[in-house]
Amino acid sequence: MLTKKIAILFSGSGSNLEAILSKVHGKIFNGVKLEVVLTLSNKADAYGVQRARKYGLESVIIENKNFNSREEFDTALVKEIEKYDVDLVVLAGFMRILTSVFTSKIKAINLHPSLLPLFKGAHAIKESFESDMQVGGVSVHWVSEELDGGKIIAQRAFERENQMSFEAWEDKIHALEHEILPESIIKILSKNEK
Ligand code: GRF
Repeated sequence: MLTKKIAILFSGSGSNLEAILSKVHGKIFNGVKLEVVLTLSNKADAYGVQRARKYGLESVIIENKNFNSREEFDTALVKEIEKYDVDLVVLAGFMRILTSVFTSKIKAINLHPSLLPLFKGAHAIKESFESDMQVGGVSVHWVSEELDGGKIIAQRAFERENQMSFEAWEDKIHALEHEILPESIIKILSKNEK
């Protein structure tokens, strides 16, 4: 059977990492088996490390704080990822700006907690909540050299409820993220061809 390999990069809680592990890892879609072969964090204390362990995956830690430049860190990431011959790299809450050292070599998708191109950057949830927009949402996109700027693969939106609290807004975003990221991976990789 055709198997396709996935690497997941994360920095923190890893709830999206876990959504992928529970919905995609080791499962067969359209005759294609999808396997997560690498979980990698730039933070040794990321809770995602423990979540991955529940699925028998020991995460590789490459801490950006040990490198002098973004390019050197990205070189180490690329070197590690290339050991695994993966079909797709997924950035699931990976909170690093990547340089062309990474983006020119690695085929990757990223999850972003807003309806791109609105609210790019690290504060999308707060900024979208504080805006007067009556819809919020999430995006999955190809990673390019431009931060949160690559071609959009999928988006999902929700309506702002009356008196909606920040917590409810955030919860809604995370719930949609946990659906859209696994679905996007399956859509990209379940074509029965290499
Ligand atoms: C998500 O909201 C993602 O969109 C953002 O960081 C968060 C990561 O959450 N970039 P988790 O670590 O997957 O729980």
